[in-house]
Amino acid sequence: VELAYLDHAAATPMRPEVRREVLAVLDRAPGNPSSVHRAGRMAREILEAARRRIGEVLGLPHETVYFVRGGTESDNLAILGRAARVRAEGKTPVLARSAVEHSAVRGAVDGAVREGGRAVVLPVSPDGGLDPAALAGILDEGPDLVSLIWVNHETGSILPVPRVVEACRESGVPVHVDGVQAPGRIPLDPGVLAADLLTLSAHKLGGPRSTAILVVRDPTLLSPRLFGGGQEGGNRPGTEDVAGAHGMAVALEAAAGEQPEEARRLGELRDRLENGLRGRIEGLVVHGAEGPRAPHISNVGVPGLPRDLLPRALDLEGVAVSAGSACRSGATDVSPVLAAYYGEDAARARAPLRLSLGWTTREEEIERALERIPVVVARAREAGLALEEVGR
Ligand SMILES: Cc1ncc(COP(=O)(O)O)c(C=O)c1O
Repeated sequence: VELAYLDHAAATPMRPEVRREVLAVLDRAPGNPSSVHRAGRMAREILEAARRRIGEVLGLPHETVYFVRGGTESDNLAILGRAARVRAEGKTPVLARSAVEHSAVRGAVDGAVREGGRAVVLPVSPDGGLDPAALAGILDEGPDLVSLIWVNHETGSILPVPRVVEACRESGVPVHVDGVQAPGRIPLDPGVLAADLLTLSAHKLGGPRSTAILVVRDPTLLSPRLFGGGQEGGNRPGTEDVAGAHGMAVALEAAAGEQPEEARRLGELRDRLENGLRGRIEGLVVHGAEGPRAPHISNVGVPGLPRDLLPRALDLEGVAVSAGSACRSGATDVSPVLAAYYGEDAARARAPLRLSLGWTTREEEIERALERIPVVVARAREAGLALEEVGR
């Protein structure tokens, strides 16, 4: 193979059947779904069919599915919309999140704090575990929202979301789940889908980019953050992307349908990659291997090298990987996820490589990565040694 694309957690290529169907909708349904004429009604029908299909896959009422403009917007609407609602009720919003959230959730919580609110952070252990006493303590405070990532985007760790959703339900605290990395990789657990708010994004499933949903069980939990027409129940005004919504429905059906076999296939490839790298790179650490993990992400740490060096060097070798979340590429500081799991010093002492697999991943790509990564690491280590010697 010419290129080993191992960055599916950042973006997974569009599935051919999704592409075909998106193009067909673009060609055949040019109307605005809010228009009363036939072209508008046709667009509306496609949009509502997509909503129904997504509701069916998730086992949720279709009217709880809101189309939004990407996973980031969905996370932001859940958190900032909740904060706005609480403020409209004359209170100061208190928002709890885990220590290992995606920047979309972290940033939205920080934004809500700047607008007048309070954040509470739940610690997470490297095995993905949440301390029940810490959770109970936070729930006792009666926060206005708990936001929790389901499958961590950097390590693949699966967090105990069903337990948290249940505990929140018992305490009467609304809960938001960022499930962006989960569908197609792990089973769609009804204990998670029972959350009050749920974020999923199409482009992680082989669907179009910048199309996502927020599931809203009870619209009175949120106030809108955008203002305009009354689309999506008034919570997300703006003309809907009909082709995108249709593409997301097709992608979610495909991903959910192939999940059991695909998880097995990707898990085997991931294990082969990890075992091979362990044998070939001295001191290699697999982050998050202490606990349950989704099969598509392997995050390894190479001691003694600077962060961001390896992805750049590997790019020249035809291996596409990232150092962590794509949203942090270019940043040289330590990953907040790895710092939360292992402490800042330990996280800083290892160069992280996130290798993520998906529906297009083939054995030859794993072989190429297994061959090139150790060579690049050895070269970087030799160069580092030479520099140290020069300094002496
Ligand atoms: C866990 C998680 N949440 C949210 C997002 C943001 O989604 P999007 O890229 O659709 O804005 C991502 C994607 O990087 C993610 O992995």
